[in-house]
Amino acid sequence: MIIAIDGPAASGKGTLARRLAEHFELRHLDTGLTYRAVAAALLAKGLPLGDESVAIEIAQHLELAQMDKSVLSAHEIGEAASRIAVLGGLREELVNLQRKFAETPPGAVLDGRDIGTVVCPNATVKLFVTASPEARARRRTDEMISKGNEANYASVLEDLKRRDERDSQRTVAPLKQADDAVLLDTTEMDIEAAFQAAVDIVSKAA
Ligand code: CDP
Ligand code: CDP
Repeated sequence: MIIAIDGPAASGKGTLARRLAEHFELRHLDTGLTYRAVAAALLAKGLPLGDESVAIEIAQHLELAQMDKSVLSAHEIGEAASRIAVLGGLREELVNLQRKFAETPPGAVLDGRDIGTVVCPNATVKLFVTASPEARARRRTDEMISKGNEANYASVLEDLKRRDERDSQRTVAPLKQADDAVLLDTTEMDIEAAFQAAVDIVSKAA
C-alpha cells in the first residue's frame, strides 16, 4: 500500500502523512527533507545553488535515516530547497531514492509536491491537501513562534506565495494535483478534522 500526499507549503501534508503512517502501520517519508538536505549541504559548503553536479553527488550519498527535520526546517533552507528543486538531473536522483523507499514492503506514506504525478503514479490512494494561503501562513507563523523563532505573518505569507509560484510554474515535476487525486481543502479544518477526513478517504480507496 502506498499513500501519496501532495500539496503546497504548510497545507498540513506532513502532519497528515505522519499520522496516516502511524494509523495504517506504514513507513513515512517527507520528501521535502531530501531537497532540504541537499540545499543545506550546498549552503554549508558555500557553493552556488545552481551547481547541479555537486548537488547530484550530495544526493547520491544522502542517508534518509540521518535527515534531521529540526535542523532542516529553517526558513532559508526551505527557500534554497525550492531553488534547487528546478534541477532535472537532481530530481531524477532524489526520485529514485524516494521510489525505492515507497516500494519496500509493507509500503509507505510519502508527502511532497510530485508524489502522485511522478514518484508514485500507481499509488493506492492519492491526496492533494490544500488550504488558503492566509490559513497556511497563519499556521506557519504560529509554528515558528511556538518553536521560539521570530516570525512576521506578512513576510511569511509573501514567502509562501513566492515558493508556491516557483513550485507550480517550474517545467520539471511542478506542484499539481494528479488527475486521480482526492482534493482535501483544510482551510476550515483543524488538524484532527483533517486527519479524520484523510482516514475516510484512504479507507474508501484501499
Ligand atoms: O508539511 P506541510 O508543510 O504541508 O505542513 P505541516 O508541517 O504538516 O503543518 C504546518 C503547521 O500547520 C503545523 O504546525 C500543523 O500542526 C499546523 N496545521 C494546522 O494547524 N491545521 C491543519 N489542518 C493542518 C496543519
Ligand atoms: O514543509 P514545506 O511544505 O514548507 O516544504 P517541503 O515539503 O519541505 O519542501 C521544500 C521545497 O522542496 C519545496 O518548496 C519544493 O520546491 C521542494 N520539493 C519538491 O520539489 N518536490 C517534493 N516532492 C518535495 C519538495
